[in-house]
Amino acid sequence: MSRPVQIVEVGPRDGLQNEPGIIPTAAKIALIDALADAGLRRIEAASFVSPRWVPQMADGADVLAGIARRPGVVYSALVPNLRGLEAARAAGADEVAVFASASEGFSRANLNCTIAESLDRFAPVLDAADRPVRGYVSCVTDCPFDGPVAPEAVAKVARALFDMGCFEVSLGDTLGRGTPDRVGAMLDAVLDAVPAEALAGHFHDTGGLALRNVEEALERGVRVFDASAGGLGGCPYAPGAAGNLATEALVARLEALGFATGVDAALLDRAAGMARGMKGAKDGHDRG
Ligand code: HMG
Ligand code: MG
Repeated sequence: MSRPVQIVEVGPRDGLQNEPGIIPTAAKIALIDALADAGLRRIEAASFVSPRWVPQMADGADVLAGIARRPGVVYSALVPNLRGLEAARAAGADEVAVFASASEGFSRANLNCTIAESLDRFAPVLDAADRPVRGYVSCVTDCPFDGPVAPEAVAKVARALFDMGCFEVSLGDTLGRGTPDRVGAMLDAVLDAVPAEALAGHFHDTGGLALRNVEEALERGVRVFDASAGGLGGCPYAPGAAGNLATEALVARLEALGFATGVDAALLDRAAGMARGMKGAKDGHDRG
């Protein structure tokens, strides 16, 4: 029997937050519904951040109100603070995610505060949350501002999020330049601090090594991976970052390796086509 792996589809959030234009709310809703139809059971549907910082995500409440909720699908939302939690809760997000960085430069650019200040902001979110909270650590190998990131710095932030109560910590190669050896070293350090069952891999694919990095994580017992249909994605505050690992490529590789994803490849291709169709005339993946 094939071993199960969970995929967290982040396209509607990570994919669309970086597009140069505003995607119509109805198109976002149609994409999320198509992803759920394809068998994805965890979908990051929105973020409740400052609309001045990320205008592309300003319609999160309307998106969550408009989707046709499929039974068994968890619809999640990114929140940077208590205000975000309240908005996500009001909109009916099943799960929320806080997001920290392993590097000070990216923390400042993305959240306008130090790593320590961001963790201080997340603690009350964890305390107040009445639904599962995921944690992200960005820049797990490289930071667009500070350069290479030490594995121990990643382990420290991952441990802090886990100790705070995050049920899962997703390790983000935000720039997508991590190589398998460096990703492996980072994972080894993190695994000393957080169990594999509580970890996820979130690999952007700028360097074309995301699938290799997934395999490094699989070898170490990680069984949850983030991906974006059509390979869209990037963070507006990470200049030079390209798209996430494409969900369709991840599913194909996992199934070839004997893992079960529960995703229907033909229906996923349809959703991925919709996602690719949302890419602006101007490529929004490289805002550097
Ligand atoms: P700030 O300017 O330091 O804080 O921003 P502020 O408290 O002064 O707030 C600024 C404005 O935002 C104010 O409104 C607040 O009311 C409002 P204004 O006075 O300008 O009209 N505000 C909010 N509005 C809606 N929802 C909220 C909220 N909070 C404050 N929750 C802040 C600090 C955290 C708000 C800002 O830095 C921010 O929103 N950052 C989010 C950046 C972001 O979303 N980045 C992309 C997601 S992370 C990512 O992509 C990485 C990941 O994929 C993993 C990986 O790849 O590594 C997860
Ligand atoms: Mg990302």
